[in-house]
Amino acid sequence: MSQLPPPKSPNNSAVETRHVVMPDHANHYGTAFGGAIMSWIDLIAVMAAQRHCGREAVTASIDRINFISPIQIGDYVHLKAMVNYVGKTSMEVGVQVNKENPYTGESLRATTAYLSFVALDGNKKPTPVPELILETPTEIRRYEEGKLRIETAKELARKIKDSRM
Ligand SMILES: CC(C)(COP(=O)(O)OP(=O)(O)OC[C@H]1O[C@@H](n2cnc3c(N)ncnc32)[C@H](O)[C@@H]1OP(=O)(O)O)[C@@H](O)C(=O)NCCC(=O)NCCS
Repeated sequence: MSQLPPPKSPNNSAVETRHVVMPDHANHYGTAFGGAIMSWIDLIAVMAAQRHCGREAVTASIDRINFISPIQIGDYVHLKAMVNYVGKTSMEVGVQVNKENPYTGESLRATTAYLSFVALDGNKKPTPVPELILETPTEIRRYEEGKLRIETAKELARKIKDSRM
């Protein structure tokens, strides 16, 4: 039986990366296509989740994605992903996406997203994840907000199910 890795802080598994928006990432308005941004978000978020749990993790849901401002062709897309909250086998990852001027470095929030991942064992079954060590007020706030989002989503799913009975 495999051993559960020790608790980790969100910083231990955080991932940061940049992409350049090329013409084939653009929509017909000449700005970055939401689907391209979503793909980069899913990719970086799963890396943070897998670094936290130390094993395979799959996307269970994309819980929220806010497109705040459009990104132009040629801009850098700066993504940061961090585990906000963990349940028993699931992890909520928050992703901040900034658009960055490649010449001046000027940076502006373009998108935010929250995704849920589930850790899988060798039989592809959900398996427990390490606890989160919360070290800063920001990490505590993100944890509490993540918990609220997950509990609210479960409550909504329950209400929808009940309304169908
Ligand atoms: C995600 C998946 C592993 C969950 O399996 P399951 O047997 O339904 O899981 P369970 O009901 O035992 O729940 C396990 C955990 O997943 C969470 N979970 C299940 N479905 C979820 C969903 N849609 N959104 C968020 N969390 C979810 C549960 O809340 C639970 O969390 P907890 O242990 O922290 O309390 C399964 O649905 C799956 O394999 N989905 C396909 C994943 C995939 O192909 N993703 C795209 C490519 S990576």
